[in-house]
Amino acid sequence: MNRMYDFSVDEALPKPERYRQLIDAAGALVDGERDGVANMANVAALMWDFLPDINWAGFYRVDPEGEGRELVLGPFAGKPACIRIPFGVGVCGTAAATGETQLIEDVEAFPGHIACDAASKSELVVPVQRDGRLIAVIDIDSPHLARFDREDAAGIEALAARICAAI
Ligand code: SME
Repeated sequence: MNRMYDFSVDEALPKPERYRQLIDAAGALVDGERDGVANMANVAALMWDFLPDINWAGFYRVDPEGEGRELVLGPFAGKPACIRIPFGVGVCGTAAATGETQLIEDVEAFPGHIACDAASKSELVVPVQRDGRLIAVIDIDSPHLARFDREDAAGIEALAARICAAI
């Protein structure tokens, strides 16, 4: 099937409205597709397209072989990244261990931060839960300090809730 997806981003819109558009586009892509890898890949591509000033966007999944205590790299956009992250290590591992969103203004000030790309300065990591269980985290990096705020966190949390059944 030859189908073009053209989700245009209106940079003039207020941030919450842009996140609503991102979430609608993600829903349109994942609804009706049962392959979780395909869905994560498309959501990573959408985040990359919709979010300005970022240098990495994607997923780490809870590895079912890791006794539920290890993250493994999933689909993403950006430079090749660290493959396995134990729970509790770095920003992603902290989000996984606590189940809480990590909004980090300066990654160098975060104890144990894992530098995959030296350009990354700030980071947002949001847990993805399904039926009350952590299944993945969404990780977004920026080359700018304090790139992410509460609106970004709320937007990506809403995205996680929208796609959690499809990944
Ligand atoms: N910086 C992350 C590791 C993943 S990369 O940024 C893609 C961390 O500290 O968990």
